[in-house]
Amino acid sequence: MIQIDNLNKQFGSITAVEDVSFKVEEGQICVLLGPSGCGKTTTLKMINRLIPLTSGKIQIGGKDTSEMDTVTLRRSIGYVIQQVGLFPNMTVEENICVVPDLLGWDKVKSRKRAAELLEVVALEPSRFLKRYPCELSGGQQQRVGVARALAADPPVMLMDEPFGAIDPINREVIQDEFMRIQRQVGKTVLFVSHDIDEAVKMADCVALFHAGKIEQFGTPDDLLARPNSEFVADFMGGDRIMKRLRLISAADVATKVPPRDHMQVVGGQSTTSSHTPLVVKPGDDLRQVLSLLLGQGKDWAVCNDQDGRFVGYVHQSDILAKLVENTTPVGH
Ligand SMILES: Nc1ncnc2c1ncn2[C@@H]1O[C@H](COP(=O)(O)OP(=O)(O)OP(=O)(O)O)[C@@H](O)[C@H]1O
Ligand SMILES: [Mg+2]
Repeated sequence: MIQIDNLNKQFGSITAVEDVSFKVEEGQICVLLGPSGCGKTTTLKMINRLIPLTSGKIQIGGKDTSEMDTVTLRRSIGYVIQQVGLFPNMTVEENICVVPDLLGWDKVKSRKRAAELLEVVALEPSRFLKRYPCELSGGQQQRVGVARALAADPPVMLMDEPFGAIDPINREVIQDEFMRIQRQVGKTVLFVSHDIDEAVKMADCVALFHAGKIEQFGTPDDLLARPNSEFVADFMGGDRIMKRLRLISAADVATKVPPRDHMQVVGGQSTTSSHTPLVVKPGDDLRQVLSLLLGQGKDWAVCNDQDGRFVGYVHQSDILAKLVENTTPVGH
């Protein structure tokens, strides 16, 4: 658990962070979102004490970090910096093993882990372990940065735009991979991003910063559907209501109410209609489902589980109704 109370940072006359308070529960991903210069990196660096606080309190796992020595604190925190920051004179393997070596881990074990972690970030170990950072593209360097931060298995991860230099397709792959690992390891993660889609996909909670302050803290759905200011609504985008589609799965809207043009369905197979119904899975998000429906000119789909068992019908009208459920006008 990370708890931040009334954090302030003053650089001379510049107020970089002002009265920031929030709490992230253990095993959750909190995305720090906001425009350039709003204080996201400064906040992260105060957590691992790369920047001293002007005032405020930071607790990790209930302990006040000002009472921990810097080395112990930093060892318990994996950090992916915004500019990657690999050591240029070390190979990829040596870079990943920096902290495990410092901790005196078994060398054979940590080399094996370096290879595993490279696979996790989709870089083939045989091709990349012995290369130097200057022999990698920017996106590849970022992925090594993520592998390095995971190497010593710290309970807390601070990640400053870790996927920023990776193209959209590979970024999706790495996000999915990261989420898969996160489901297994359950780290407490603070993740800086500029990308709202990334935040909506990854975050349990979002802290939206504006000029050094938190403008709104909540779930992705809170910010999309119930923005508390014009700034939040603008930042989340004119299509923010549509972005909610991604947060809702087919199972959430599946109903036993059959479509009017399709009264008899047995196990998802039509017995009256000559048209094969569109079939979706319970875990498909409504963005995918709606795209399929619109693409095929259909009003509804059958939702079957992975064993082909009928779960329900997904009606286009129910998707649209779900979209506007629990929304409030800006500032209410
Ligand atoms: N060492 C410093 N001295 C003076 N001002 C600083 C210093 N570091 C950061 N700032 C200022 O503090 C503010 C917050 O900077 P910060 O790096 O936290 O922004 P950010 O939200 O991470 O932005 P970006 O998205 O561009 O990375 C900015 O106005 C920046 O110019
Ligand atoms: Mg930054």
